[in-house]
Amino acid sequence: MVYTYDQYRQSADYIREKLGCFTPKVAMVLGSGLGFLGDVVERPIAIPYGEIPHFKASTAPGHKGRLVFGTLAGQNVAVMQGRMHHYEGYSYEEVSYAVRVLRLLGCDTLIVTNAAGCVRTDWHAGELMLITDQIKLFSESPLRGENLPQFGPRFPDASHLYTPRLQALAQEAARQQGIPLREGVYFYCYGPQYETPAEIRAARILGGDAVGMSTAPEVIVAAHCGMEVLGFTLLSNMAAGILDQPLTEQEVLDAAEAARETFSALILGCLERL
Ligand code: HPA
Repeated sequence: MVYTYDQYRQSADYIREKLGCFTPKVAMVLGSGLGFLGDVVERPIAIPYGEIPHFKASTAPGHKGRLVFGTLAGQNVAVMQGRMHHYEGYSYEEVSYAVRVLRLLGCDTLIVTNAAGCVRTDWHAGELMLITDQIKLFSESPLRGENLPQFGPRFPDASHLYTPRLQALAQEAARQQGIPLREGVYFYCYGPQYETPAEIRAARILGGDAVGMSTAPEVIVAAHCGMEVLGFTLLSNMAAGILDQPLTEQEVLDAAEAARETFSALILGCLERL
């Protein structure tokens, strides 16, 4: 499916009607088990994805599948409680559709969060990582197909997908709250199977620090349409082959639950500083 500019506009118009005079500034995509931040948005206006023209449902565990508009730490936010993944059967264009709609609604910043496997053997499961860059080499781009120049250029620069200014701001927020924050590269693998130990060794050689099945497509699309991007990974488990145990979805959800407080404090600290 190739979306037209009019379709993005129709989705935005539908949402705008529900929002009245509220204009969101900061879009947030909350990953596996991390959607709870959407539940503490003040004066919330929640819109299920299924209600919005051209939106797709989100079927992954821990993903509520709705947009919540309101204020959080003094910012006007649009929180995606749950995202679409390529492994659910959606094209990369479908996966990143909402980002462009939120851009049309007025968002100029995107905060992305995810849970991912820890590729580094000198780091630990449960730690948080600020994403400095990403690797998405082995799958097509969400920008493939006709370019929509209303959003951005055909060949966008990707030197700074994750905005350096926002990275500095996040490190400052973490420091002030005493939250340890790693910095590293997110290595995208499309799943849904977890990686093999050989794939993790390859990811390590190629420069990945964390490995996960989301985020990278949305970030490419956000940067293309001129949004500033800030990304965080919860290292929910050691990646395949590091420990002598199978990887499970329960482990990821348990880690997200355990990180809940620290994680929300970090995000709120960043929002306050934006
Ligand atoms: N690999 C890919 N995606 C993930 C992982 C992992 O180890 N953990 C959480 N999401």
